[in-house]
Order: sequence, then C-alpha cells, then structure tokens
Amino acid sequence: MQLSGTWSILNGLIATLCLSGLTLAIELDINDKESIKDAASTSTYSMMGWYAGNETGQIPGSFPTKWWEGSALFLALLQYQQFTGDDQYNDALSQGLQWQSGDDGNYMPTNYSSYLGNDDQMFWGLAAMMAAEMKFPDVKGGFSWLSLAQGVFNTQTARWDTTKCGGGLRWQLFPYQNGYAMKNSISNGGLFQLAARLARYTDDEKYTKWAEKIWDWSTSSVLVNNKTWNVADSTNMDNNCADAGNYQWSYNYGTYLMGCAYMYNYTNGDEKWKTPVDGLLKKTFSTFFPHGNILEDITCEPRKMCNFNEILFKGLVSSWLAFTSMLVPDTADQIRPKLQASAQAAAKGCTGNNNQTCGIKWYTSEWDGTTGMEQEISVTNVFLANLVQFGGIDGPVTANTGGDSKSDPNAGSEGGDSDKNKQKPITNGDKAGAGILTTIFVLGWAGSMAWLLTGA
Ligand SMILES: *[C@@H]1O[C@H](CO)[C@@H](O)[C@H](O)[C@H]1NC(C)=O
Ligand SMILES: *[C@@H]1O[C@H](CO)[C@@H](O)[C@H](O)[C@H]1NC(C)=O
Ligand SMILES: *[C@@H]1O[C@H](CO)[C@@H](O)[C@H](O)[C@H]1NC(C)=O
Ligand SMILES: *[C@@H]1O[C@H](CO)[C@@H](O)[C@H](O)[C@H]1NC(C)=O
Ligand SMILES: *[C@@H]1O[C@H](CO)[C@@H](O)[C@H](O)[C@H]1NC(C)=O
Repeated sequence: MQLSGTWSILNGLIATLCLSGLTLAIELDINDKESIKDAASTSTYSMMGWYAGNETGQIPGSFPTKWWEGSALFLALLQYQQFTGDDQYNDALSQGLQWQSGDDGNYMPTNYSSYLGNDDQMFWGLAAMMAAEMKFPDVKGGFSWLSLAQGVFNTQTARWDTTKCGGGLRWQLFPYQNGYAMKNSISNGGLFQLAARLARYTDDEKYTKWAEKIWDWSTSSVLVNNKTWNVADSTNMDNNCADAGNYQWSYNYGTYLMGCAYMYNYTNGDEKWKTPVDGLLKKTFSTFFPHGNILEDITCEPRKMCNFNEILFKGLVSSWLAFTSMLVPDTADQIRPKLQASAQAAAKGCTGNNNQTCGIKWYTSEWDGTTGMEQEISVTNVFLANLVQFGGIDGPVTANTGGDSKSDPNAGSEGGDSDKNKQKPITNGDKAGAGILTTIFVLGWAGSMAWLLTGA
C-alpha cells in the first residue's frame, strides 16, 4: 500500500538519522589540550548524572549499595577540577567527601561501618589524601583532608594482623564477612600507597617505616613477587598464606606501583624504589595491554563479566600511571603512548544511547551496549590522565611545598572496630551493600576458575 510504503521510507530515514546520531563519539584530539578538556567535561557531565547527593533530601556522597564507589567518583572530580580548572562540581565534591568521613574522621560512617572492607575505607582515604595534595580547600569546621587520610591510616595500621602469615592486613574487618580470613593485594597495596603518600606529604618517619614494613611484608608474601613482578590478588590465612589466588587485576599492580613511585620521589630517587617501579610498570604493560597500547582488565572484559567494581579499575590505573609519570619523570615516555591510545579508544566507544554514553571495553573502539556511572568515571579518568603530558599541572604538593591541610597525627583513633560496631546486628540489606566484593575469590580458586572457564 502506498501509505505504508511512504511510512517505511520515512521510518528508514528516521532510523538512518538516529543511527548517524548514535555513531557520534566523543571527539578527542589527543595532541590538543583543549580537546581533551572538552572530552573530560562531556564524560564528567555524564558521570555526575548519576550523582544526586547534593540534591535536597539526599545524602551527600552516599551510594547505598556500593559505598566505596563514592570515593572513585570524588577521586575523578578532584582531578577534573585540578587539571581543567572547571570548578562547577567543587561544592558537591567538598560536601560529599566530608559527609562520608563519619563521626570519628576515619571513613567508618556508622551507616556502613558494619560491613565495609579495608579496601573500601582505604579508597576514601586516598581521595582525602589527594584533596590535601591538590590543595583542595579544607572545610571550615570539618575534618581537614590530611587528618582524614591520617584517620584511615591510624585505624588500618591498628588492624595489622600478626596472627598468621607474618603480618598483613585482612581483606575484611569482621569475622562474619566473607574474606575475613584472606589477605589481599588491594588492601595491603592500598595502605602501602597511603603510607607512602603520607610520608612524602608530612616527612614524618612514622609513615616511612610503615610504608617499608608493608612493602617488605608484601614482597615476602605470595602477593608480590619481586623477581617476576607478578601481583596476585589474594591469599588465604587458613593455610598460612601458602599459595595465592592469582587472578590478574590491573588495580593491584597500580596501587603498588603508585606507592613505589611516591617512595622514589620522596627519597629523591632512591634505587631501592626505582627497581620496583620499573618492574611493576613493565609487568603491567605486558599483562594489561594485549591490544597494542589499550588498557584492558583481562580477567573480566573478554568474557563480559566485569562487575561494578571491576569497571572502575582501569580508570584508577590510568590516574596512577599519570601520577607515576610525574613522580618518576623518566617513566613518562613509556607511559604516554599507553594513556593516549587508551583514551582515544575509550572516546570512540562513547556512542551509546544517543547521548555519548561510554562503555566498559575500550579496546574494541566501539560502544559495548553497557550504561553506568562506573563507565563514565573510568573514561573521565583516562581523559584526565592525558592532560599531564602538557606540563603546567602541579604535581602533588607536600607540607613543605605549599600544602596546608591541617595535620592530626592521632586522627581517627576512636575508630570503627569498636565493640559497638562489632555487635551491631547485620541485616540482609547490609550484606547486599558490601563493598568491593569480588565474589569469585570468595568461592575459592578452584570453584571460581571452573566458573570463569564455563562462563556461567
Ligand atoms: C544517557 O542515556 C542513558 C540511557 O537512557 C541514561 O541512563 C543517562 O542518564 C543519559 N546520560 C545523560 C548525560 O543524559
Ligand atoms: C547538584 O550538582 C549538579 C551538578 O552535578 C547541579 O547541576 C545541581 O544544580 C546541584 N544541585 C543543587 C541542589 O545544588
Ligand atoms: C546515615 O543515614 C542517615 C539516615 O538515612 C542519614 O541521615 C545520614 O546522613 C547518613 N550518614 C551518612 C554518612 O551517610
Ligand atoms: C625481595 O623481597 C624479599 C622479602 O621482602 C627481600 O628479602 C629481598 O631482598 C627482595 N629482593 C630484592 C632484589 O629486592
Ligand atoms: C618528584 O616529583 C616532581 C613532580 O611532582 C618532579 O618534578 C621531580 O622531578 C620528582 N623527583 C624525582 C627525584 O624524580
């Protein structure tokens, strides 16, 4: 029929128009600073579309079912405002980062403290540390950013566990949590990084000693191999940490790399720290860049099995690589092409939903059909990481180079594992809210390997 024929031509036209709309990626000229800033502005806008914490009646910085991800969002925003000069999100950033710090200033807020893990708390500590290092203004009448990082450090070092495995931090805080009997790389590597950054910022020997202690324990354990530079994910206390779950995750490498880069910089270029920087960098490159220079979390991406947490790892690692290139200047030439190719591929994938939604996989250079805050955070991070190469961006300051966030060496000491928190009954809702829960590790290596291989 005539009419329907017309309609189908029209429909075809509309579909074509929509499709061409769909293929409009985020534009990115990797050699042009302003183009990178524009791309970051676009992805940051999308990222903030998922944040309502600054609206009336909402809780600042709160992500009820995935609390730690607030810290990932604020880490990206801190870099965004510092590297681009766009301060439109600063009020939300300041408010949220402060609100979640809890009554004791150690990122153990009572709404979450009964089920969070050391890694969850640690990431908020890293965000506060970055705020101090970027001279992000302290909040009047609130906890200073530096003291919040110190609060996390103090509560975590108090949990250093010598009952088994010769030391180390457990993954989770409480016996009722899956993962309490494990020691893992992100928790220990995260605390190592925090200690190294506190050492450099404050020049207080206490932090240096802890950074060294955590590093020595990590390299003497099955987690970090200081010959091959393999970083395993976790190890089980039940057999005294005799073997490791060797899943490969980029952020485990990245956090140790970042800590070593800070120690290298703080010690004015001590070889002791250059060797691991070079070793970890090389292994990171050979493991997580199977597609030329494009970063990929190889354990989950090919199988399309990345959970919320895992989508964020590449973004964190992109930032840590950028900071490493500043702190250890002779790594910059190797790091730059990796960040450039990753950002270009990521931008090409931002064609989703007709509104430049970005996907999880960067290496395919096309949208993978997924939509979420985590994707936008990671892409924002890799865009921002590329601004470092142009110079003119201040590296992290210290108390001697303009940092004025107020120090409180005893911060956070009323901390979270008080009996009060331990005895708080746990609801199913609480359990569902658990943080960086990489379930495959909890199932055990054998079980999860089978699960991975069958792709169930
Ligand atoms: C893009 O579209 C998706 C799907 O409708 C939506 O969830 C997201 O909020 C949109 N993003 C922006 C920035 O409008
Ligand atoms: C919350 O922040 C967004 C930017 O992310 C802004 O557009 C909005 O106006 C803010 N809302 C309030 C109530 O300040
Ligand atoms: C904890 O929950 C209460 C009740 O919903 C809320 O008023 C408060 O702001 C929350 N605190 C944090 C740190 O999220
Ligand atoms: C590797 O780590 C172990 C344990 O910390 C240490 O004894 C050894 O000296 C380290 N090797 C090198 C080459 O640094
Ligand atoms: C330490 O980092 C700064 C950048 O923040 C850099 O200018 C300096 O050269 C680094 N120091 C060493 C010893 O590499």
